[in-house]
Amino acid sequence: TNKISIAIDGPAAAGKSTVAKIVAEKLSYIYIDTGAMYRALTYKAITNHCSLEDELELMKILNDTSMELLPGELGQLIYLDGQNVTNEIRSSEVTNSVSIVAKHKLVREEMVSRQQSFAKTGGVVMDGRDIGTHVLPEAEVKVFLLASVEERAVRRHNENIQKGFPSDLEKLIEEIALRDKLDSEREVAPLKKAEDAIEIDTTSLSIEQVVDEIMNLANERI
Ligand code: C5P
Repeated sequence: TNKISIAIDGPAAAGKSTVAKIVAEKLSYIYIDTGAMYRALTYKAITNHCSLEDELELMKILNDTSMELLPGELGQLIYLDGQNVTNEIRSSEVTNSVSIVAKHKLVREEMVSRQQSFAKTGGVVMDGRDIGTHVLPEAEVKVFLLASVEERAVRRHNENIQKGFPSDLEKLIEEIALRDKLDSEREVAPLKKAEDAIEIDTTSLSIEQVVDEIMNLANERI
């Protein structure tokens, strides 16, 4: 069978990584969470007291940084310079700063080139904001996942509570809306549906239903 590439884009907390991971498992493909890469750089920059507006300083750090994405029991694991930072990159400090780091042109060029080399082998499910538009423009399947801000915030809120993390729904709504705004309005590779992407509004769909829709699209092309 033909090993295809599947690009899954969409706004923050739309369930991209949840469905991408399941689709990858079903197809025995590799899963690449590109948001984790921007988060890892943000984490390292904060730890090194680097100004997140300083593109050249960020590039110095990035050029001296290794990132590995490995499958784990509960989702993707990310190693930054050999250290497991899977939990650290989900902190609210990183979440609320990552869009600043991700707006820089040179940072994006380097990330895209690393992402493309991860995908070289084919048989990949990749999620992010610019996968269908810039990273894998030739992907056989492109999906753009949507859901209302309120629905996405409620899902994240329930996840937090389940994990025993503190969570404030109103604050989540604000933070998600702001991140979407920054990601959609930046100059370089903004969050945008690719012209040939299929839009799926997940607001009233279960995870299973979204996975099924993507699997149907994939099976038509494999
Ligand atoms: O997907 P996740 O929410 O973890 O992404 C974190 C942030 O990384 C996004 O809000 C965005 O600023 C940035 N990002 C990006 N391009 C991607 C993936 C993520 O700019 N392909």
